[in-house]
Amino acid sequence: MIIRLKEGGERIPLTISGSDPKKGLITIIFQEIGKTTIELGRMEEGESILNLVGPLGMPAELKNFGTVVCVGGGVGIAPILYRVKALKSVGNRVISIIGARNKDLLILHNEMKELSDELHIATDDGTLGRKGFVTDVLDEVLAENRVDLIIAIGPVVMMRAVTGVGSAHGVRTVVSLNPIMVDGTGMCGSCRVTVGKKVRFACVDGPEFDGEFVDFDELLQRNRRYLKEEAASLMVMRAGRCTCFEETGCE
Ligand SMILES: Cc1cc2nc3c(=O)[nH]c(=O)nc-3n(C[C@H](O)[C@H](O)[C@H](O)COP(=O)(O)OP(=O)(O)OC[C@H]3O[C@@H](n4cnc5c(N)ncnc54)[C@H](O)[C@@H]3O)c2cc1C
Ligand code: FES
Repeated sequence: MIIRLKEGGERIPLTISGSDPKKGLITIIFQEIGKTTIELGRMEEGESILNLVGPLGMPAELKNFGTVVCVGGGVGIAPILYRVKALKSVGNRVISIIGARNKDLLILHNEMKELSDELHIATDDGTLGRKGFVTDVLDEVLAENRVDLIIAIGPVVMMRAVTGVGSAHGVRTVVSLNPIMVDGTGMCGSCRVTVGKKVRFACVDGPEFDGEFVDFDELLQRNRRYLKEEAASLMVMRAGRCTCFEETGCE
């Protein structure tokens, strides 16, 4: 879905990571990395955001595949948790592999453990679970199990690496792409990705695609195109906060 916090605010894409239709609730889990997500994190209970639109894009393929390996990296663990729940509800055996830079950045591991048939944890620094990358664990899991599908959600470099390991073992990998999105309707062209040499818009055609056909190099390059502007916007926000936020409450 795409949310906008306030009039004049940027639109940002976030994933629905849980829902309770009876109560009319959805859950989002987000990482504060730039201006809008930091502002979102500052909101108090009872405050409201201006608007949101969703769910957008194509629904994920959901059926009994057999044995599915779900790989989640960083904040990508939030949508993977939701997926594990859905896959289990239609009878799949789910082996989950989650990873983060360190144990403090690893989210939802208790919930993942509860839902998965098997859970493996990897941290880059070895502070929790196995020291190393999720792909090291995936390689071993694929060597020891007959796996029908891999689903990977996380940083682009992780999804590219997972796809590589999957291909080496002859297993299909589905990835959830996170290009920069603006309108979420297929009109602005911001989320353009190349999949199987064809132009696709992740907001309407995705966000999920077969990893094997995704041009990850192009995606990485396109995701870097506003780095300067994003850093400048964060600096302005921080400066605004330091010099006048406490005195005037100015945002
Ligand atoms: C389909 C999709 C689902 C996502 N789901 C989640 C989620 O559930 N939880 C979560 O924490 N994050 C999620 N993200 C990433 C989230 O959209 C960005 O973290 C957020 O837009 C950053 O905005 P900012 O203003 O805080 O930071 P900025 O300073 O604007 O950006 C920091 C970094 O975030 C990325 N980014 C910025 N704007 C966008 C944008 N409009 N679209 C995509 N990436 C952007 C860029 O790589 C950039 O380098 C998702 C992204 C996509 C495309
Ligand atoms: S976000 Fe504009 S085309 Fe997809």
